[in-house]
Amino acid sequence: MSVAMNPPWRFDSVAAVRDGLQGVDYLSDEGIAGVVYLADRLGKPVLVEGPAGTGKTELAKSTARMTGARLIRLQCYEGLDEAKALYEWNYKKQLLRIQAQRVGEEAGAGGWSEIEDDIFSEDFLLTRPLLEAIRSPEPVVLLIDEVDRVEVETEALLLEVLSDYQVSIPELGTVEAASIPLVFLTSNNTRELSEALKRRCLYLHLDYPTLEREKQIVLTRVPDVSDHLADQIVRIVRSIRSLELKKHPSVSETIDWARTLVLLGLDNIDADQAKQTLHILLKYQSDIAKAAKELSVNGAR
Ligand SMILES: Nc1ncnc2c1ncn2[C@@H]1O[C@H](COP(=O)(O)OP(=O)(O)O)[C@@H](O)[C@H]1O
Ligand SMILES: [Mg+2]
Repeated sequence: MSVAMNPPWRFDSVAAVRDGLQGVDYLSDEGIAGVVYLADRLGKPVLVEGPAGTGKTELAKSTARMTGARLIRLQCYEGLDEAKALYEWNYKKQLLRIQAQRVGEEAGAGGWSEIEDDIFSEDFLLTRPLLEAIRSPEPVVLLIDEVDRVEVETEALLLEVLSDYQVSIPELGTVEAASIPLVFLTSNNTRELSEALKRRCLYLHLDYPTLEREKQIVLTRVPDVSDHLADQIVRIVRSIRSLELKKHPSVSETIDWARTLVLLGLDNIDADQAKQTLHILLKYQSDIAKAAKELSVNGAR
């Protein structure tokens, strides 16, 4: 590959990644920090997969914040195509240009070939996130969020760009990356991604954090929460996650719950208080009923 690494590397060690992330309030572990470190060294994208609300999107954002790099985000959705992911020509502006030319011609100005060169030039190009990331003179963090939502053809396009970090625009030529962006693709696993895309990426499975890490997340993200309350909260959440539910509480819901309890002025939570606020944590009535039953049996310890 002809792309230069610039600057050589972003991180000195796995520990530096972990500390850096902590510095921007993202609590990682060896596994997470290790993959980010390797992605940088190897110039490979990271495919982050796991349940909703486990910090996949936040990892990319936090990495950008920690390095001071610009974050460029491509939000995926069904129907996302090349024109919205890569680039398209500004059709309206081109039409206006052609019309202006016609008026000019009547007044004796230049011909068609001149106009064709003109309307397929930089001024008429609408740059979308992938091309923007490739063209950026400074190293950027590129987040391709919820990639499992796009169709297979668009996935192939992404793979092509991520394989050689270059984009070919027939009318303008090939654009090569000045420096390899640090790329994060996230997936909620609504469908299997192609083998080829997986092969191209480093794989990171983000599951619910351990008790200790989730407690640290709560302490970091929720102002005024006491150590004792944070501890109780993550224990209750863990016991609820062990139940058979439609939708398990995510880290973001743990944080919301902690914020609510702090707002209510609580420093200690009993089973009744937990039950009364379960709707912050769970979004299905049947899940709330199951969790309430569990809390009655085991209490909020
Ligand atoms: N490891 C973590 N450290 C700090 N905050 C976290 C962490 N994981 C999740 N969060 C919190 O949870 C929220 C939801 O995470 P998000 O990245 O949006 O989830 P996902 O993209 O996996 O659905 C974040 O905004 C952040 O507040
Ligand atoms: Mg997300």
